[in-house]
Amino acid sequence: MPDPAGADAPPPDRLEVVGKVAIVIRECPHANTANEWLWGKVWRQVKYMASMRKSVTPKYIADAITAAICQFCPAGKVFDAFCGVGGQTVSLAAAGLKVWAIDIDQNNVNDAHHNASAHGVLERVRIACGDFFDGVARLASKWQPIGKKFAAMHIDMPWGPAYATEGACPLDRMGADGKLSAYEVLEVASRLSDSLVFKGPRTMAISDVVKLAYHLQSLKAKGAPQSEPEIPVQSEPEIPVAEAYVSRNKTHMVAVYMGEVAANYMATLPAPTTSRNLTRRLWTVEQCVDDMRRAGKAVGLGRVAFEPRAP
Ligand SMILES: C[S@@+](CC[C@H](N)C(=O)[O-])C[C@H]1O[C@@H](n2cnc3c(N)ncnc32)[C@H](O)[C@@H]1O
Repeated sequence: MPDPAGADAPPPDRLEVVGKVAIVIRECPHANTANEWLWGKVWRQVKYMASMRKSVTPKYIADAITAAICQFCPAGKVFDAFCGVGGQTVSLAAAGLKVWAIDIDQNNVNDAHHNASAHGVLERVRIACGDFFDGVARLASKWQPIGKKFAAMHIDMPWGPAYATEGACPLDRMGADGKLSAYEVLEVASRLSDSLVFKGPRTMAISDVVKLAYHLQSLKAKGAPQSEPEIPVQSEPEIPVAEAYVSRNKTHMVAVYMGEVAANYMATLPAPTTSRNLTRRLWTVEQCVDDMRRAGKAVGLGRVAFEPRAP
């Protein structure tokens, strides 16, 4: 049957580089209250400023990400970048992982310590107050020469107003002041881990999910930072896994698994029964999820074509 939106039509001729993305829908349990959705049953013991209420990773989503990290990443220490008040940090530590974390806001760091303590996992976490870029640069200068890396890095950078941008969230204009680029953050993060988990808004464009993963792959191939996101022309492009978290029929956010964690994750996915061309419309993760749920599918494979870069 022809696709009414034209999404299954072949891409225009000038689009040559075709990337793929796996989309996995994770249904999260319902919570009875907003506090329980954020922190589970221990919500009375946690502490955080009201301004962080919308930023904390809800417990059920944090636990799903932790489960994927435990299943698909090698054993070892993990890094929680932009850790805020510790929603993801405590989930990772509660699963038995050793976690290093960083946040620039001292109040959040204090609350993250308190929350780790409330969860009984303080001995497994080490939380620094500081800038992500400085912190990674300092650590990488010691670790890179000896080939040391984290087993995984979880990245929950502030989305800022970009989140509510009409259409799709621009990944190069995130952060409170719109000056933080997800591409730069990933570039820096890749110095310390081969398995990256990027938490993004449901308004992320599917094509941007692919671009992020390709950008990383291209950095790895060239071994040096690039000035702008690049789509490499490779015969076997990496397939990122976008795990979308849904509860009460609403898509809340997405975690994009890239690098080694994505390869391991992909190896466990059932072969998708459909493969959709997502090039023509600016599909967001949320739109794809709605589309898949209407079709009764929990796993999908999408293809996106890009214009090749000028030589
Ligand atoms: C979306 S929140 C993270 C929420 C966290 N995952 C949680 O569950 O509490 C983003 C965090 O990034 C921090 N941040 C912003 N810029 C930063 C920077 N340059 N370096 C480190 N942390 C930064 C903010 O203080 C904020 O706590």
